[in-house]
Amino acid sequence: MSLKLPKVIGHRGAKSYAPENTVESIRTAAGLGVEWVELDVKLTADNVPIIFHDEELDRTTSGTGLVAATRYEDLRDLDAGSWFGDSFVQCRIPTLEQAIDEILKAGMGLNLEIKPCPGREKETAEVALDYLSRCWDDLDKILISSFQHVSLEAALDLAPDYARGLLIGGLELPENWKNVAEYLDVSTINLGSRMVTKQVAEDVMDFEKPLLVYTVNDPMEAKALQRLGVDGFFSDCPDVIIENLAGGLN
Ligand code: G3P
Ligand code: MG
Repeated sequence: MSLKLPKVIGHRGAKSYAPENTVESIRTAAGLGVEWVELDVKLTADNVPIIFHDEELDRTTSGTGLVAATRYEDLRDLDAGSWFGDSFVQCRIPTLEQAIDEILKAGMGLNLEIKPCPGREKETAEVALDYLSRCWDDLDKILISSFQHVSLEAALDLAPDYARGLLIGGLELPENWKNVAEYLDVSTINLGSRMVTKQVAEDVMDFEKPLLVYTVNDPMEAKALQRLGVDGFFSDCPDVIIENLAGGLN
């Protein structure tokens, strides 16, 4: 495994500065000098892989209703930027293909989070990885993650050479996390920041896999977590975290 992770990954692009999970957000991250971005992928009703976080269109677009029930042709022209700011009125929901084009153009790395609509865990990974494996061959710069074990199992099956990251949410590590991580043969453990105590950080370090933590926007929190042994951070304002970690740890 040749994975080369940066210290800071831009969350949903650069979520603090541009509408999340859009091409503009990827461009903004690139402009800030961010090396990698994290993006969420899910399927439309007609199986088009799109970059989108929520199950519903309502929060971040001019549309309404479930992504899983909407065909691509009915969401491609939605305004996915005005909710964030008037100057982003031109933003659209990108397809996976459009997002990857942009990332490759910028020479960035990608953490693709498989974020399936409920019941679509396997096919979301299958469709996304089928596309990705035709256009992405740099194993240093790709990490496939998911909260959904079925999605990671499909990734292991279809694209075993891409590193996988096990996402775990909530307030405590589940008892069986090491068994799951071993079974899915993951390269990273990706935890919510609220979960990361000294003991949790030590447990993951003993497991000898990089520990990545989301979503960290406060430089003091990043420094404290780094002192506990955290290897990398997802941040909405990755430039702020990069600058402050570079500025010293104490
Ligand atoms: O991958 C880290 C983070 O993106 C997981 O949570 O809800 O922001 O996709 P969420
Ligand atoms: Mg995500």
